[in-house]
Amino acid sequence: MKKDRFIFGINLNSKNNIYYNQPKAMVIDKQNTSIKKLPSPKGHLILGHLPKFQTSNKHQVLEEWVEECGELFRINFVGKELLVSANAVINNEILKSRPDKFRRLSKMNEILIEMGVDGVFNAEGKSWKRHRKPVTEALNAQKIKGFHYVLINKTRGLLQKLEKYSENSTIIDIRKEAMCFTIDITTAIAFGHDINAIQDRENEFQKHLEIIFPMINERITAPVPLWRFMKRKKDKKLLRAIGSIESIVHDFIKRTKRKLEETPSLKKEPTNFLEALLVLGEETGFSDKEIYGNIFTMLLAGEDTTSNTISWIIYYLSQNPKVVSKIREEAIEVYGEDKISETVEQLAKMTYTNAVIQETIRLKPTTPQLYLESNEDVVIENLMIPKGTKIITQTKVPQTQEKYFTNAAKFIPERWLKSECPIYRNHSPEVIKAFGGGARFCPGKYLAINEMLILVSAICKNFNITLSVDPKEVTEQFEFTMYPDNLKIKLEKV
Ligand code: HEM
Repeated sequence: MKKDRFIFGINLNSKNNIYYNQPKAMVIDKQNTSIKKLPSPKGHLILGHLPKFQTSNKHQVLEEWVEECGELFRINFVGKELLVSANAVINNEILKSRPDKFRRLSKMNEILIEMGVDGVFNAEGKSWKRHRKPVTEALNAQKIKGFHYVLINKTRGLLQKLEKYSENSTIIDIRKEAMCFTIDITTAIAFGHDINAIQDRENEFQKHLEIIFPMINERITAPVPLWRFMKRKKDKKLLRAIGSIESIVHDFIKRTKRKLEETPSLKKEPTNFLEALLVLGEETGFSDKEIYGNIFTMLLAGEDTTSNTISWIIYYLSQNPKVVSKIREEAIEVYGEDKISETVEQLAKMTYTNAVIQETIRLKPTTPQLYLESNEDVVIENLMIPKGTKIITQTKVPQTQEKYFTNAAKFIPERWLKSECPIYRNHSPEVIKAFGGGARFCPGKYLAINEMLILVSAICKNFNITLSVDPKEVTEQFEFTMYPDNLKIKLEKV
């Protein structure tokens, strides 16, 4: 076997170092290094790093610690130790080694099971494989193509609303509007029901869903599960929200079961995810609880992630009128006089709009970190990770590092165009983990990209965008997904 050679801590024989733009390992030592030997940022004597972490921008706290300690360090929450990795090679290896060597943080499963959710996001091992198959199938390109009419209708609906806002020079909370757009699409695909949040922003279902992510975020790093001993106001609110969603979804399960009995032909070609799961349930024994768990997961996973990414795209567009013009030119080239794009094939031609989406996802991934845990003792790039180690993989950090992207801090959509790529010396798409990695890679990526392409193209085709606040007032906030707080815009009809 070839002996490892190191220069400045870089393993020259690592397969990751073949190309200049491949992620380079930050190898610690020739010998296996234990987590105990890693640096740790300054923390409280008893509470450790918890006080600093209990904020609404914990991803930025983690980024400050990377500045202080480097790409690999340890933190502790009241004595409970966690490994934090902002190293692209190690993160990639961890994500790739699932479901066998690594899993999601076990606490994530505990919290979701407590909320009555038993679905693909929190399932592990064999159970995960069983859940993953129908979810991947429901979200594959062919199925999503069949739902394209939903994307068209919802884009049209939101555009009409935005036209009214522009006529009245209304300041728009675009994040809320984008949320309504994504929730309408996700519910239509999940259980074939149009809740029409775009026209009814006070929609109860939406309000209930909005409560859940911040609470998962809070509970995942809570040192003591207080909610198990006493129900605070917010715990009661969460219980009510979950109860309502549960009863709505179970009602849909009953109705859909009846529909399948009355129209057996549907079993051959289910028209939404719920129908598909129920048909599959007959063959594989999915219980109603598991079916509910996966519907709930899809609603939760498909809403904030996509709407917050749309919001970040608008944040950049509102400060880059030239980029808006280029998207508009592309829209005219692809779908001429029409207000919005009407086909999936047209979306595939929008290379510049897609480049804007990729660049936004690079700079502002809505999932800047993932919480994981090792299932066994593992050695990665000389780092010993014992079984049961809790890990935070900071996937956002490499995406904004100069060694992987030239002018990394700048918003330059052109770097994603094949024709222009060579002018940027460092360009490492493989370090982008905004949709996760390995076998648990986000199955909703294709749907999300299509939602973003159709809506962003339509907004730019029909409006000029201006930011109504100072860009410095728009801040990154993290509530399980990262969003632009205080993003307010105005639209002017072209
Ligand atoms: C811009 C939009 C989106 C982003 C940034 C995003 C990001 C992610 C990330 C980071 C993960 C974890 C992956 C991992 O552990 O490796 C994930 C998982 C998942 N996402 Fe998405 N997602 C988006 C949209 C969607 C949509 C639209 C849906 C479905 C309607 C969806 C459904 C799921 C599901 C079901 C999982 C769990 C997969 C598993 O554990 O096997 N996502 N997503």
